[in-house]
Amino acid sequence: MVQAWYIDNDSGDVRLEHHLSPPQFVDLENLLRKTGVMYWKLDPENCESEGKLNQIRSEKGYSFMDIIEISPEKLPDYEEKIKLFYKEHIHKDEEIRFILKGSGYFDVRDEADKWIRIEATAGDLLILPAGIYHRFTPDIKNYTKAMRLFSGEPVWTPYFRPADDMEQRKNYVMKQKRNFLVK
Ligand code: LAC
Ligand code: NI
Repeated sequence: MVQAWYIDNDSGDVRLEHHLSPPQFVDLENLLRKTGVMYWKLDPENCESEGKLNQIRSEKGYSFMDIIEISPEKLPDYEEKIKLFYKEHIHKDEEIRFILKGSGYFDVRDEADKWIRIEATAGDLLILPAGIYHRFTPDIKNYTKAMRLFSGEPVWTPYFRPADDMEQRKNYVMKQKRNFLVK
């Protein structure tokens, strides 16, 4: 099962776990409430026959998909790219990732602007809402194979923080405030 936890502010290797001491985990219900991040566990080997992936794709209209391998061997300009992935940003659209092999960390900001680290491993399907500040890093194993899904023509453009005046950011903040208050 996916794990998520608050991280410390220590500098040093970002690919380490960076747990607080003692560790402070966030369960899935709180992850959703605090960030709007949605999560499913699928079978990475048999996702076609299992049918769940196709169901999510058709329900959400994710017509586009491709596969990205993030490793020093497979990704050109690896060091440059992962530096950019780790720079805090938002997108105008959802970021949808289904981990097929390997692992990596998605860091997302909670309602109090604190970082929550989501450990994504094979079988984890994550939807980061449009407008959420986030970043990604491989872990110490340096290998992530992920399916990227998108509704329509894919746009991967990151808008680096600060991007508070963007419409998608404002919408996200408004929606989260409402969610957080009622739940
Ligand atoms: C992305 C990850 C790095 O935008 O957040 O692809
Ligand atoms: Ni992103």
